[in-house]
Amino acid sequence: MTFNKDFEFLLSKFAHELRNPLTSVYSSIQLIELQHPEVKDFKYWSSLTCDLEYMNSLISELSSFSKSERLSLTKFSLRAMLEQISLSFAASIAESEVEYTSRLDSALPIIIGDEIKMKEVFLNLLRNAYEASLPDKKIYMEAFANETEVIVRIQDTGCGISKEHLPTIFEPFVTHKKEGTGLGLAICDHVVKAHHGKIAVESAPGVGTVFTVSFPLANAALLASYGAQSEK
Ligand SMILES: Nc1ncnc2c1ncn2[C@@H]1O[C@H](COP(=O)(O)OP(=O)(O)OP(=O)(O)O)[C@@H](O)[C@H]1O
Ligand SMILES: [Mg+2]
Repeated sequence: MTFNKDFEFLLSKFAHELRNPLTSVYSSIQLIELQHPEVKDFKYWSSLTCDLEYMNSLISELSSFSKSERLSLTKFSLRAMLEQISLSFAASIAESEVEYTSRLDSALPIIIGDEIKMKEVFLNLLRNAYEASLPDKKIYMEAFANETEVIVRIQDTGCGISKEHLPTIFEPFVTHKKEGTGLGLAICDHVVKAHHGKIAVESAPGVGTVFTVSFPLANAALLASYGAQSEK
C-alpha cells in the first residue's frame, strides 16, 4: 500500500491529536500514584497503566508509519550503523536465553539513505525475531555487499510463520501478538521501498524465519533526491 499526502497528513494529525490527551491522562495517573500510593493495590491499576503505555506505543508507531515514506537522506557507513544496532540489541536481550550472533562484512560500503529510518527497519526485524525466539532460540544477522546491492539478512530459529499468515504480515495492523500493533513490518516495507530496496521473507513453522533486505548501491532517483536535499 502506498498512500497519498492527504492520507499521510490525516494519519500524522490523528496521532498528534491523540498524543496530547493521552499525555495528560498519563500525568494524572502518575500524580494519583504519587499522592495515593495505596491505589497500586487496586486490582486493575497495573493493567490500566499497561494499557496507557500500549496506547502510547501505538501512537508512536502510527506517527512513524505516517512518515515512513518521507526520507531525510545522508551519506553514512552501513557497517557502523549495523554495528551499533547489533551492540544495543545484544545488550537489550542479554538477560534472556536467546542466542544472538552477527557477521558484518568488513567491506560494507558508505551508502545514501535515511539512517534513522533504516535503523528502525533493522531494529523492528530484530525485535520480531527476538519475540519469535523466546525463550531460548537463535538469531543471526549478516550483512554483505556485491557490485550492485547491499544485503542484510536476519534469521531466527523461532516459531516461524504459518502459510496462512505469511501473505498478510506486511499489511498495517496485522498482528498475531497480544500486545502487537501490527505496524512494525508495514513500516519496514514502506521504508525499504522508499529506498528503492526489497524486503523478502521465508519461513517455516517450528523451523524459523529469514527476512532479507536488499538495497541497490546506485539508484538514480535516490541519488537525485540526495543531490536536491544537500543543495538546500
Ligand atoms: N521473525 C518472525 N517470526 C515469526 N513471526 C513473525 C516474525 N516477524 C513477524 N512475524 C509475524 O508477523 C506479524 C506482524 O509483525 P509486525 O512487526 O508487523 O507486528 P507485531 O510484531 O505483531 O507488532 P509490533 O511490531 O507493532 O509490536 C507478527 O504479529 C508475527 O505474527
Ligand atoms: Mg513487530
